[in-house]
Amino acid sequence: MTPRSSGQEEAGYSVAFPKRWWYPACRSSDLGSLKPHAITLMGTPVVLFRDRFGAAHALVDRCPHRNVPLSLGRVHADGTLQCGYHGWRFDGGGHCRAVPGLYEDDDADAAARCVATHATTEVDGFVWVWGEAAAEPSGRPFELPDLGPRTSQTVFACDLECTLTAALENSLDVPHTAFLHGGLLRGGQPSEVTAVRREVAGGRGVEVQYLGEPVGLGKWRAKPGGKVTLDHWDRFFLPSIAQIEYRAGTWLRIVNTILHLPLSPLRTRAWFVLRTHSPVPAAVVRPIVAVRGRRVLGQDAGMLARQTEQIGRFGGEQYASTDLDLMANPIWWLLRQAERAESGQPVVVEPNGTSRANGSGSDGVGAGLADGDVDFAGRVTPRTVTFRA
Ligand code: FES
Ligand SMILES: [Fe+2]
Repeated sequence: MTPRSSGQEEAGYSVAFPKRWWYPACRSSDLGSLKPHAITLMGTPVVLFRDRFGAAHALVDRCPHRNVPLSLGRVHADGTLQCGYHGWRFDGGGHCRAVPGLYEDDDADAAARCVATHATTEVDGFVWVWGEAAAEPSGRPFELPDLGPRTSQTVFACDLECTLTAALENSLDVPHTAFLHGGLLRGGQPSEVTAVRREVAGGRGVEVQYLGEPVGLGKWRAKPGGKVTLDHWDRFFLPSIAQIEYRAGTWLRIVNTILHLPLSPLRTRAWFVLRTHSPVPAAVVRPIVAVRGRRVLGQDAGMLARQTEQIGRFGGEQYASTDLDLMANPIWWLLRQAERAESGQPVVVEPNGTSRANGSGSDGVGAGLADGDVDFAGRVTPRTVTFRA
């Protein structure tokens, strides 16, 4: 197979950054009243802070005066963000409100002294930013599922040395769990599982439902072919959400929603928001989830970093996929298509399974499409696969 092409500066890696979407920027608790919080958003430095009313704001992290990071400064008592170099102060709209020492300044709000902003909103304990600067947002950020009363929540954060695409695939890739995480998540006696892939969210996501998985964790699993099975779904939602849901009857529901922030082409921040609804007290569930979750995460982070490094050594990605790789190509396809659509270049699928942007020739996006992951209308194709896991 040919490597997937990249529309971004990291040639050879599958990088697609659709901008007109909400991205998680930080947890609400990361933003205090004094210290600004620095992130990078798809390669651009951005600083977040709270004004004196507690509202979160996001500014491009570059002082218009002499280019230093505004995140080196602090939040002033009046709720503006004050640069650490000469003390210029900026409000949440990016307007310069004061230049210390300057007499009779009628021009503090001059356009050249303004900083570009990203729209923000807070939902479910996270601050979200709109991916495009100086733009009106639309829609709402992804909502975490409400599992009702007796729900416990655990959140882990981890910076991964990999593309957003690779992080999303890793979160939703079942075959590696029995191997890399053998004994922790899966492992033990394999049983026959049927996976059904379908489009969700009006074509803005894809889901794989797994049927026939025995109840259990790691090596402790019910006998294959038994009556009690887990209901299991893996889902991807544009632009950066992965979600894994397990249900056992009405007594257990676990939803792990992974919110990804693409820091840069090859660095991705992930928050794992694990919500569990069960009759078992939260005090018992939390430590089990925390210990296993961290070990699993450590294994994934290590493997993703090595994958990124190796792709770099070989000068680009190259993939061989089988029927078990149900998620990777649809994820890449949806991301790439969303990015293209913003530049007015819808991707066209060719009869031979390759694709091209309008009139620009093949761009290699079709690398994974020849085996029917996407139909000629550009929709993710439904598929059913039976395998052993
Ligand atoms: S560099 Fe920011 S105020 Fe001078
Ligand atoms: Fe994993």
